[in-house]
Formats: sequence, C-alpha cells, structure tokens
Amino acid sequence: MYRFESDFDRKLTILMIDDLNNRFGLGDQLVFSPHPSGLVRGVVKSKACTGEFFLLGAHVSAFQPTDQTGPLLFMSSKSVYQVGQPIRGGVPICFPWFGANKADSQAPGHGLARIRVWEIAKTERKGDTISVMLETTIDQLNLAYTLAFGTQLDLSLAITNVGDHARECEAALHTYFQLSDVREVRVFGLETLGYLDTLTHKTMPATGQAIRFTEETDRIYSGEVASIAIEDPGFARNIEIRPRNSRSTVVWNPWVAKSIRMPDFGDDEYLRMCCIETANVGLNRISLAVGQQQSIAVSISTRNHCE
Ligand code: BG6
Repeated sequence: MYRFESDFDRKLTILMIDDLNNRFGLGDQLVFSPHPSGLVRGVVKSKACTGEFFLLGAHVSAFQPTDQTGPLLFMSSKSVYQVGQPIRGGVPICFPWFGANKADSQAPGHGLARIRVWEIAKTERKGDTISVMLETTIDQLNLAYTLAFGTQLDLSLAITNVGDHARECEAALHTYFQLSDVREVRVFGLETLGYLDTLTHKTMPATGQAIRFTEETDRIYSGEVASIAIEDPGFARNIEIRPRNSRSTVVWNPWVAKSIRMPDFGDDEYLRMCCIETANVGLNRISLAVGQQQSIAVSISTRNHCE
C-alpha cells in the first residue's frame, strides 16, 4: 500500500516512475517502483545480486550477492523515508560537510547530499553487473555517483568544482553493515592507524589490535588503507571493504544510550550493525581548484568462512 500526500502526488509519482522505467529501466534487472513511503526507488535483480537504491540521497539501501543468505547492508526498521530527512541504514552520502556544519549550527548534520533527490544520468548492464549513475550539484560542486551492483558492490563518487573559486569539502560513504552480533565481530585493517576519538575529542595512537565493539564507538582513523575486513563468526563470513582515494575511515556504533536517543533507530538495533565509512574528512578534507575533479570510492564484497 503506497502512502501519497494527495492524488496529484500519486499521479505525478506514477508518471515519473513510468518515465524512469522507459528511459533507464533494464528489463526485469533494473525496475523503478514506488517504495511504500511514496519515494522512488530502483530495484536490481540480476544473476549476480539483488539491490536497491533511492533517488533520495542516491541512497543504496540493499545489496546481497546471490550466493549469500542475508543482506550485507543494515537498514533500520525505524527509518524515516521523507525528502529532507536522511534514511537510516544502507549508504547515506555525507557531503559537503561531515557531522555538524562548523559555520552554521542550524545546517543539517552530514550535509545536503543525503536529504535531496538526485537525478539519474545513465544506467547500463555489463554482463551480470547493473550500473547506475546519479547526479546532483550542491553549491557549485557537481557530484556524479556510480553504483555498480555485481558480485560485489562498487560505489564511486566523483566531485567536480564547477564554480569560479577553489573549494574545500568533506565526503563520506557512510556505510552501515549488517552483523550477526556487534559484540562478536572483529574489524581488521585499521590497526596501524592513529585516530581521533570523536567522543573524547582526543587523538589516539595506533592500537596494533583489531577493533572490537564493547561500548559506544565513534572514531575517525587517518591514513589510507587498501582493505578492511569485518570478521563475523555468527554469519560465518567476512565482509571486505576496499576503499580508494580515501584518507579517513570513520568507525561508528551508537551502543545503548545513543540508540535510545535516536528516534529513527531501534533501541536494540546497535547489536546488528556497525558503520565503516570510506571518507575524506577533517584534516583529510578535499581541496578542489576550479574545474578540478576528485573521486572517492569503495568496493564491498563478502567471503564465507568455509570457502
Ligand atoms: C557517524 C558519526 O558518521 O554518523 C556519528 O561519526 C554520528 O557521530 C553518526 O552519530 C550518525 O549521524 P546521523 O546524523 O546520521 O545521526
């Protein structure tokens, strides 16, 4: 049952979806349809995987390779689906700032990219991979975001300064991963990097240890890594995250008290997720000369422990 504000909205959405399917649908492998909230989403179903994304925020909300029995991305059952508000889970894009806006405390947290509706530029099928390019321009910074749903999920965000002066910005692919139990997982790959603890505002040295979650965790690691792995014994799988052009990695779990404080997140949902965010934020923010382009990208895949 779809929920529309008015009959006019309903007709407009259906016309828009017909138009999207005509121009960008790829048979039954990429179909646009209304989400129960009335938001427009693209649904991917190929030999390689299933997936889903919203035009709101160019938000990837689902990805599951065909050989997996469960999703790789966590979505909150309490998420709001409304233009102007972020979707909780999947992969929100934080841009052009991360966290609170330093100059304007009223500005939305994590920027504007995740709360606005993007345009589709192109869709393409290559073998069993379905690719979608979405675009938007925020304050003279053009964003071209390519989602490739195959046996792995490849996300690549190209940022181009189309304005007339040099710019700085922050960007994060704020990925929520689905876990069996956050208390049992270990995250490998960041042990040689120092980090800023966002909770204490202290800069911490490298620990030399895999990350384990035992309390609220909110860290910004600094430095490039080729690969990060989430070892999840409960699901007998590793999730592999391969960032590119990313000089920051944010690791977040809200734990008990913050989960209760967040209205769009279930009180116990912190147990089934963690965020490992491919990012360029803070001291590692992006500088762009006029006309310059930079991209940030991540590939996400999984391997079962018995393989
Ligand atoms: C993380 C931040 O990236 O996002 C956390 O490090 C923040 O501090 C979290 O709480 C969620 O942010 P939001 O705006 O989606 O509630």
